[in-house]
Amino acid sequence: MIQNQTWICADNITKAGKCPVLVKNFDSDNVVRAELSITAKGVYYAELNGERVGNFIMAPGFTFYLKRHQYQTYDITALLKNGENHLEVTVSAGWYAGRIVSRFGDWKPEIIAEIVLEYADGAKEIIGTDNTWLAGEGKVVFSDIYDGEIFDATRAVSNLVPAVPDIDADTSNLIPQEGEYVVEREVFAGSRIFTTPKGETVVDFGQNLIGYPQLSINAKAGEKVCVSFAETLDKDGNFYNENYRSAKCIYEYTCCDGEQIFKPRCTFYGFRYIRIDEFPGSATLDEDTFTAIAVYSDMKKTGHLACSNEKLNQLFSNVFWGQRCNFLDIPTDCPQRDERLGWTGDAQVFCKTASYNFDTRRFFYKWLRDMKAQSERYGYVGFTVPGGPTPMAAAWSDAAVIVPWQIYTIYGDKTFLEEMIDTMIQHVEKIAEESEEQYTWRGGKNLRQFGDWLATDSLDKDRDGAFVTTTYSGATNPDFLQAAFYAYDTAILAEALEVLGRDGAYYRDLHSKIIEKFQKDFPEYHTQTECVIALRFNLTSDREATAALLSRMIRENGDRMSTGFVGTPHILHALSDVGKTDLAYTLLLQENFPSWLFSVNLGATTMWEHWDSINKDGDMWSTTMNSFNHYAYGAVADWIYEVAAGIGRENGSAGFDSLVIAPHPDKRLDWLEASIETDKGIVSSKWIHTVDGGVRYEITVPASARIIIDGKSKNIEKGTYVFYR
Ligand code: BGC
Repeated sequence: MIQNQTWICADNITKAGKCPVLVKNFDSDNVVRAELSITAKGVYYAELNGERVGNFIMAPGFTFYLKRHQYQTYDITALLKNGENHLEVTVSAGWYAGRIVSRFGDWKPEIIAEIVLEYADGAKEIIGTDNTWLAGEGKVVFSDIYDGEIFDATRAVSNLVPAVPDIDADTSNLIPQEGEYVVEREVFAGSRIFTTPKGETVVDFGQNLIGYPQLSINAKAGEKVCVSFAETLDKDGNFYNENYRSAKCIYEYTCCDGEQIFKPRCTFYGFRYIRIDEFPGSATLDEDTFTAIAVYSDMKKTGHLACSNEKLNQLFSNVFWGQRCNFLDIPTDCPQRDERLGWTGDAQVFCKTASYNFDTRRFFYKWLRDMKAQSERYGYVGFTVPGGPTPMAAAWSDAAVIVPWQIYTIYGDKTFLEEMIDTMIQHVEKIAEESEEQYTWRGGKNLRQFGDWLATDSLDKDRDGAFVTTTYSGATNPDFLQAAFYAYDTAILAEALEVLGRDGAYYRDLHSKIIEKFQKDFPEYHTQTECVIALRFNLTSDREATAALLSRMIRENGDRMSTGFVGTPHILHALSDVGKTDLAYTLLLQENFPSWLFSVNLGATTMWEHWDSINKDGDMWSTTMNSFNHYAYGAVADWIYEVAAGIGRENGSAGFDSLVIAPHPDKRLDWLEASIETDKGIVSSKWIHTVDGGVRYEITVPASARIIIDGKSKNIEKGTYVFYR
């Protein structure tokens, strides 16, 4: 058991950024099976006899290490030799002590490991971490998640001294791997190389992605390859990466002699382009020199979306890529700049889409368990997980209730809901404790207000008549959002308790009191998001009037949204809920700013953080807060699955057991299809406008279901069906 081993430290190399190696030489003879269990306080890269152990990139992953530190177990039988074996483990500070969580300071580069050798006669030999291991310098000169990697292929492992056992270090927080492995997935080869107007050499991989470039080169020892990364070009076609802010994203490789292939070991980048800053004189740069490898959590793709409109298809692709790029072990805001953190609000709005697109169970269960552990430790959920305590924020901290519930409704797993219920209760209770007024969420010493983050309704005209954003948090009243989310959480909690066979009456009653107060405090709605949230969270006493107001606001805004992170994921649903699916399609198909297709028209291959990360004149939103890879607005896809294609479930049911297929065709599209691979099989729904002006529906269900077409309902059994209207 790895928990019985001792952490060992490379205490001769303790500056974060530096990457020590820990080495163990051991003999083996006729071993029939061998396993290595290992983890590090940082990110490790293990090699046995010169071969990489396993395929987990960025192991051991990012968790709330204080309470939950994953280790991995690998079958190493095939890598083992008779005679002397050499195990070399490179450690970087990673998420444990790298710049992502602290300033570069001193750090204790530690690993803990256990090798189990099994012999033919059944005997077992255990090799643990102790002072017979050696610690020294390896080929990775520098590595950090934000700042990239420097690798020197000419260096040999050196300055080895005995590793120091850290006998007091805790092992009770060690847990076996829970999340998906992070692995290499898509490979982008045959890249385009071009010279920018500034005269720089740039490689374009054609897709904004997360991962790293792989270099394949024939060069001389000591020659160097240095590249920089970017997601976009500027309006003149020049390489642009000011939006990475302080993240240096270095990639520097010193060659050895001859043919060689290199890819970074303990870091990752978010990029579409690389600029060649230095390249060996003796080598040729061609389209095979670099390939880009996408790296993210190994989730199974379950969702599929397609339609007759190529721009929407690009949007769907951007949604999927937005997810891949921000699902590297934890759900992040973005993969490139100096953030890459588990922002709870972003995950809250996107988790439903994410779970149709891919099977996210292992991924979210692990992250939610970190949230639970953090909540137990700090007494509440803040705006990032995993990590230290951060303030509470409406729509962010509410992930504590919304994400477990959403995941439950999609997969129907009550056991996991049961596991999360105390965290859900704790969140609702914490709001009551923090709020300065009863039955609402107002004030409190631990509050941060992000409002309707990045909404465009605080735009104002500047002196030249151009629109400029005046705040980050939009025009929606943040107190309104707090009260609204408190109500929403409480309704969910009551239902969750009842699903688990417990009494939800207390929270039902609390919910009505919150609504009553809400209606007194907020009798009028002033923004699209306020209307949207009032409709979606059932806060309004007059749905019709609120729906009419929302439509008017949209119309007066030129058939455009003005919503941010909080309102956008709900706006199309809010319209469909009140019978205005037509207007929802108008927003979906809108191409003027702010809209989903605006960025598509400007060549986006992932979801942008701002509706106008690049504006129509080609200018950047800002240099300081401008990611081209934030998945939040990609939440639009759940409306495509649930409303446009109409893959839904009976009220009150969870999982895919009580399917209701109610497609909503729109004349502006010739056809649209969506499918989801469930545990029981594929559910798919396609509609096609026929030449005679009718609609052909093709529906496949993996179990009995109800189909609703034009308000008419029909029960069907497992199978594929075609209907005409
Ligand atoms: C992140 C967001 C996050 C936000 C909080 C930003 O810096 O990139 O996606 O949710 O802060 O408002």
